[in-house]
Amino acid sequence: MLIAQISDIHVGSSRFRPDLLQIAIEEINAAEPDLIVVAGDITDDGYGDQYPQAKLALAGLACQNVVLVPGNHDARNVGDVRFEDTFGSRDSRHRMHLGGLDVAIVAVDSSKPDLDEGQIGREHYAWIAEGFAGAADLRVFVCHHHLVAIPGTGRDRNQLMDAGDVLALLRDCRNDIVLSGHRHVPYLWPIAGMYLIHSGTVSTTRTRGFPDSAYNLVRVADGQIEVELRVPGGVRHSLGRYPRNWPEALTARDADPFTRFSRGGPLASRGGPSTGIPSP
Ligand SMILES: [Fe+2]
Ligand SMILES: [Fe+2]
Repeated sequence: MLIAQISDIHVGSSRFRPDLLQIAIEEINAAEPDLIVVAGDITDDGYGDQYPQAKLALAGLACQNVVLVPGNHDARNVGDVRFEDTFGSRDSRHRMHLGGLDVAIVAVDSSKPDLDEGQIGREHYAWIAEGFAGAADLRVFVCHHHLVAIPGTGRDRNQLMDAGDVLALLRDCRNDIVLSGHRHVPYLWPIAGMYLIHSGTVSTTRTRGFPDSAYNLVRVADGQIEVELRVPGGVRHSLGRYPRNWPEALTARDADPFTRFSRGGPLASRGGPSTGIPSP
């Protein structure tokens, strides 16, 4: 099963390189992925003239399964509304049979209008858990912002504001893969039974610690998850090959005092107003 992960296209930016996007699309089509995830910052400012260009540019993707979320740049200037008009819902849940695997996908808009900071928000937690409930061979969560800081990106100012709670929620949901963008540096963090996989910027020169534009191919096969970093028209190298199944102790699912002890259940089961954490 093959997932192509692209993000941070930034159509309309002075540093947008349509030639790089075109090369990446051709390479991705040649790889014949089962699923393409576009993890946000599709436009640079969310303007009305940028969305049609972005839609046209992405129309070259040949895969029938394409999941998109907006990024902080897409939510500027009322761009969140234009995203919906152009690409459909900002949040989506999917069940797909891909490459012999039953795959559950939950994609959430982590942006807030005109802010660079991101947040999933408590109101989404039960909806996310519901999307991952039941049997699945692979669970994939998609959001633009990062849940853990990325090296080589300078000062970290806009990680998900509720990253800790979202990490605990996803662990409780037995999520396998998180696909994000935003920092323009390709990077992978293994953490608590999950792989947090970040794509670089596919089609701009707005790079940071990693000097080239890039996208990822994520292969799931034979009990392993392998991530390949690709520079459009350039080098390809592995971001690592990892086991799909973690030793239970390393997931630390039973060692979390906040999601289980104080609430008597996982974060996903929360409903109604917060009651606060009881004092010791
Ligand atoms: Fe970006
Ligand atoms: Fe971003």
